[in-house]
Amino acid sequence: MKAIQYKAFGNSNVIELVEVPQPEINNENQVLIQVKAASVNPLDIKLRSGIMQQIRPVNLPFVPGADVAGIVVATGEKVTQFKAGDQVIAVTREGGYAEYAIANESNVAIKPTNASFEEATSLVVNIGTAQSVLFNEGKLAKDQKVLIQGAAGATGATMVQMAKNAGAYVIATASGQGIALVKSLGADEVIDYKSQDVSLLANNIDLVVDCAGGESQHKLFEVLKPGGRLFSIVSPPSAALAEKYQVDARFISSNISAGSLAAGLALVNEGKLRPIVAKTFPLDEAAQAQDFVSAGGVNGKVVLVVLQ
Ligand SMILES: NC(=O)c1ccc[n+]([C@@H]2O[C@H](COP(=O)([O-])OP(=O)(O)OC[C@H]3O[C@@H](n4cnc5c(N)ncnc54)[C@H](OP(=O)(O)O)[C@@H]3O)[C@@H](O)[C@H]2O)c1
Repeated sequence: MKAIQYKAFGNSNVIELVEVPQPEINNENQVLIQVKAASVNPLDIKLRSGIMQQIRPVNLPFVPGADVAGIVVATGEKVTQFKAGDQVIAVTREGGYAEYAIANESNVAIKPTNASFEEATSLVVNIGTAQSVLFNEGKLAKDQKVLIQGAAGATGATMVQMAKNAGAYVIATASGQGIALVKSLGADEVIDYKSQDVSLLANNIDLVVDCAGGESQHKLFEVLKPGGRLFSIVSPPSAALAEKYQVDARFISSNISAGSLAAGLALVNEGKLRPIVAKTFPLDEAAQAQDFVSAGGVNGKVVLVVLQ
């Protein structure tokens, strides 16, 4: 089968389209999926650069791709929820940039019928991360105030929608065309992070979610109420600032499974959560797709389309 692979860490020049053996089910809980679409997540680019080797090592040669949407072609003996022909989405962790991929049954869910394969794969990391940060860790409740930094990005745009569906008051930071996008998704207030100072415009926030990282994270402490939460999905917040402002500030690594996708997928099926695909590329343009994500300014998910 065709797959995208790299044999060394580096820039997108290391990416190759190769012919490799089709993966086989080697565990009774596994599902083999014919891939129709696979997300390009920012993590794919960090892994390819080699900077994650200390905390999230990968073995070379490596086929990237943390999630897919496609059709079940075979199942292990103990798989009960899926059968050949089912249209599904799955957390693969690796190997998604390929014509076939393997996932454990616990990481597979039925694709929403109102989403294309491209839209469906875009939901996996976004919903799983939003669920972890907003609800499992953030305990976001109706009428609470949440501020989402980087709200027009792939994960941020899903967080805005899931927080609004939960009845929260949503303040979003964005720039450029992202401002109109987050307004259309229901944000109650939008702060242009390039021209406005978030620390002067927001206060008494219950939960801040940082999807951008970097220096801009420091100002986010100032908008929290005492005892509030600042969770970053990008970089660990300053322990000294957490102490100073008396808040719970942590890096959150989302643990995505079919279970953590259930609530978000129900919203998609009800038409209450919109997948946002910024751009699609064919599988053999995976390098260009990753460079497009790296360049920034993308509103929504970039997706690889796998044609067979
Ligand atoms: N920990 C986890 O489990 C987990 C899960 C998913 C993702 N992540 C990480 O989370 C990050 C976001 O992922 P994503 O897929 O949403 O990426 P993305 O689509 O590139 O979104 C990032 C957003 O951040 C915005 N941004 C950049 N600098 C900013 C600043 N100084 N202030 C406010 N906003 C700023 C960007 O806006 P502009 O385009 O306007 O610049 C963009 O909309 C990535 O680093 C990814 O690896 C972590």
